Amino acid sequence: MLEAVARANHGHVLAYGDDVHTRACEERFRELFGRDVTTLLTFNGTGANVLALALLLGPAQAVVCSEWAHIAVDETGAPERALGAKLIDLPSADAKLVPEQLDELAHLIGVKHHAQPGVVSITQSTELGTLYTVEEVAALCDTAHRLGMKVHLDGARIANATVALGGTIDTLRAFTVEAGVDIVSFGGTKNGLLGGEAVIVLDPALAGPGEFVRKQVTQLPSKMRFIAAQFDALLADGLWLELARHSNAMATLLHDLTADIPGVHHAAPPAEWGPASTTTGARPHRYAEGASMAAVEIVVTRLETDDDWMRQAACKGLTHLFFPTAAERPQARERREAMARQVCAGCSVQDTCREYARDHHEYGYWGGESEDERHAAGFRLIAPIGVRARSAG
Ligand SMILES: Cc1ncc(COP(=O)(O)O)c(C=O)c1O
Repeated sequence: MLEAVARANHGHVLAYGDDVHTRACEERFRELFGRDVTTLLTFNGTGANVLALALLLGPAQAVVCSEWAHIAVDETGAPERALGAKLIDLPSADAKLVPEQLDELAHLIGVKHHAQPGVVSITQSTELGTLYTVEEVAALCDTAHRLGMKVHLDGARIANATVALGGTIDTLRAFTVEAGVDIVSFGGTKNGLLGGEAVIVLDPALAGPGEFVRKQVTQLPSKMRFIAAQFDALLADGLWLELARHSNAMATLLHDLTADIPGVHHAAPPAEWGPASTTTGARPHRYAEGASMAAVEIVVTRLETDDDWMRQAACKGLTHLFFPTAAERPQARERREAMARQVCAGCSVQDTCREYARDHHEYGYWGGESEDERHAAGFRLIAPIGVRARSAG
């Protein structure tokens, strides 16, 4: 990268992307995606996301994303401030959206009192290091398009995802252009650049205002050649995949080497929830290997209880599966509790936990039992969530 930048520092070129390096970089992206994509280089990932969403959003439209989405959680409200658009962040245990969640929002469409769901933004690899399969992205795109929505893919770690899903250019194309994604934020910084990201407009119909909107959202680099030269080097000879393979391997190593450190607990390993394992009762999972620290997020937990059995509980670090988020939808609760049940099934202190929760009239999911079920078993809460929802209905 340093050599590429140094090479671009020779001679004289025009500013603002009117230069040979930027032309070469644009050509690289056309080759990568196998079609006439429009490339808009930006300074950083937040700016890339804001630009991408600006190109996708129509008047009075909202962006639908997961509650873990970088745009919703880690961008200091930049999309809301810069775009004046509402974000609808939906509950998700594994930071992935499913098509049913989009369908659940369909009732908002055409109602003048609601921001109109106009864009769905997904992250690949997700903020929790989980991966969408090609089929999952395609299903989301199909549903989004059927509902008249566009699809943005935040690919800050798109190289890591590409490697984890197969490691070829065809893999990348399969979960982006071929799946139906409209615009990609293509990560550079997390893949080895000194700095720089790219917004790749896959749908030519959306590209027209790109250059103007980029400037408006303050992402037009005057010395664009330095970002372009880095991407040019990254995409040459598969370097982007080689670097991602290395970082995936290092993340896996970090995960393995830290697994046994007392007092260090790996955070929820959600990833792709497959069929239940017959031996442990726990669902198998797979990290988006090497989604840098996100894939191996490590939480140092201070044990705050004297109840010794709690130290052995299988649910440590998985709080989000056991307690609802605010205004959780019934379908989301069912999905969350199904995952919690799987964790409890493989837990050595399940019975003790269930008794404890019954005695203390706890809220949430404890010892293989939801608060609804605890209520039904005679250990009443004043207003368990499920019961409250049903009587309100
Ligand atoms: C998923 C995701 N999107 C976007 C970004 C953009 O980051 P930045 O604005 O720091 O370049 C990040 C950075 O951590 C990220 O993890």
